[in-house]
Amino acid sequence: MSEAILLVGGRGTRLRPLTTSTPKPLLRVAGVPFLAHQLARAAEAGVTRVVFATSYLAECFEAEFGTGDAFGLDLVYVTETEPLGTGGAIRNAARHLTCGGDEPVLVFNGDILSGLDVAGLRDGHAASGADVSLHLTRVPDPRAFGLVPTDPEGRVLGFLEKPTSDAEIVTDQVNAGCYVFTRTVIDRIPDGRPVSVERETFPALLAEGAHLRGVLDDSYWLDLGTPAAFVRGSADLVQGLVHSPALPGSPGQALVLASAHVDPLAVLTAGTTVCEGAVVEAGAIVEGSVVLPGSRVEADAVVHRSVVGRHAVVGTGSTLHDVVVGDSAYIGPHNEIPSGVRLACGTALAAQALRTSAPVQV
Ligand code: GTP
Repeated sequence: MSEAILLVGGRGTRLRPLTTSTPKPLLRVAGVPFLAHQLARAAEAGVTRVVFATSYLAECFEAEFGTGDAFGLDLVYVTETEPLGTGGAIRNAARHLTCGGDEPVLVFNGDILSGLDVAGLRDGHAASGADVSLHLTRVPDPRAFGLVPTDPEGRVLGFLEKPTSDAEIVTDQVNAGCYVFTRTVIDRIPDGRPVSVERETFPALLAEGAHLRGVLDDSYWLDLGTPAAFVRGSADLVQGLVHSPALPGSPGQALVLASAHVDPLAVLTAGTTVCEGAVVEAGAIVEGSVVLPGSRVEADAVVHRSVVGRHAVVGTGSTLHDVVVGDSAYIGPHNEIPSGVRLACGTALAAQALRTSAPVQV
């Protein structure tokens, strides 16, 4: 028996409008809800029971995964009446654990794609006698992250806020969003109020002299919180740059789900996914993108590193670069949507309403 808590209650604001009606962890990544990859990897690591800590759009999770038979897992769903933050959510979900106080409990953020050796992290935790083990990863530009310096033995020395000057960049190690807690340590998190595990729990534990063990792992790691990271993570899975037992098919240039229709004269490259019921017409080029269920990319359109929402339409000859098209949005023919634009769900753009040189009004 090995138990885990999955944190999936966040609002996913950075991925709006995609997260307006679908919680971030359930967005399709490489053709399946993102969590399918995480659950499959957890099962592969020997996890047998997972407690979902839900809040935002809570009902969607059980509707998607039920009791967990498809993964050989026992799934339990817990809903917060008000969002409790990451630490409060762990504390609240722990009520539904069945393990003893000395047992290790895995905790996963529900938006991290990684190649971490999860079983190694858990088994090493037990052997080390640590209170908490934290997966750390190195990032090329640490300025956007809280930093986690460690001593040569891997013992965490501090939790530093995002650096504002080069002098504050004392390490390139950051919290990678996967932990192992000794069960009794979770029971010490304050109950019934919002708590941030990153900003409150870990610094407090350190101040009390607890043993926080940093485990640096340089395998694939990506936080899927932004549109750019979301499309990249999906494309990387499709191309096999990170392993997932839940990938529906073999790695390659593109993934086309059953009941999608791609014209033989369309070009799909760089890890594009075309989900169920979606259509890509002749002459369209779709590169490194996610085309969600029921949407349509019309003839000669170009879709580059973008997400096309459910039942959205990209009109004939339109071009999109680094764009998020909300569900049911309609882009008429021959538009050029500038990089970084997010079209709200249900937006309708007439033919040629937008050219890259024109002011953006969406
Ligand atoms: P943004 O709004 O775009 O920052 O995304 P987010 O809401 O997912 O926040 P963040 O990426 O910081 O959250 C990290 C992980 O914790 C994600 O898996 C969230 O689903 C989860 N999470 C964040 N806040 C809560 C909460 O209050 N309750 C629960 N149960 N999970 C949370």
